[in-house]
Amino acid sequence: MIFDKKPSIVEFQERGDERGYLVVAESNAEVPFDIKRVFYIYGTEENVARGEHANRLTEFMLIVVNGSCKVDVDDGNNVEMFELKHQNQGLYLPKMYWKTMYDFSPDCILLVLCSEKYNSEEYIRDYDEFIKEVKSYE
Ligand code: TYD
Repeated sequence: MIFDKKPSIVEFQERGDERGYLVVAESNAEVPFDIKRVFYIYGTEENVARGEHANRLTEFMLIVVNGSCKVDVDDGNNVEMFELKHQNQGLYLPKMYWKTMYDFSPDCILLVLCSEKYNSEEYIRDYDEFIKEVKSYE
């Protein structure tokens, strides 16, 4: 572990009434950063893995707004598996974790909130390079 922040599941408050449910995620409140970018992933086949990269700068909040998936989170020494299947939960990921999303249910919609705008330069897509960089901080 090279930084203070750790991957963790965040429980969002579910605001329910006779009309159904509503979940709120605000910058620097439920989400511990300024949200600068949002993207979502859907229509992923069950045997497909996505991600398989680390980010030098971006922090993320992953929320399954429908369905379920799993996420392996690797700090260079240990891999932790998180299962996302509740719409009122988010997985917070600090920068510099290698992440792999897989076991998508056919109906999965994975919403991703990001602390930075897209910049391909800050992505590490080679696992050996990730290990080299992460070890250089130790
Ligand atoms: P990719 O990073 O491979 O997706 P995942 O993390 O789910 O495996 O992104 C797929 C394509 O979309 C790739 O060409 C980069 C592009 N992209 C953007 O242009 N902006 C973005 O914010 C993201 C996440 C991806």
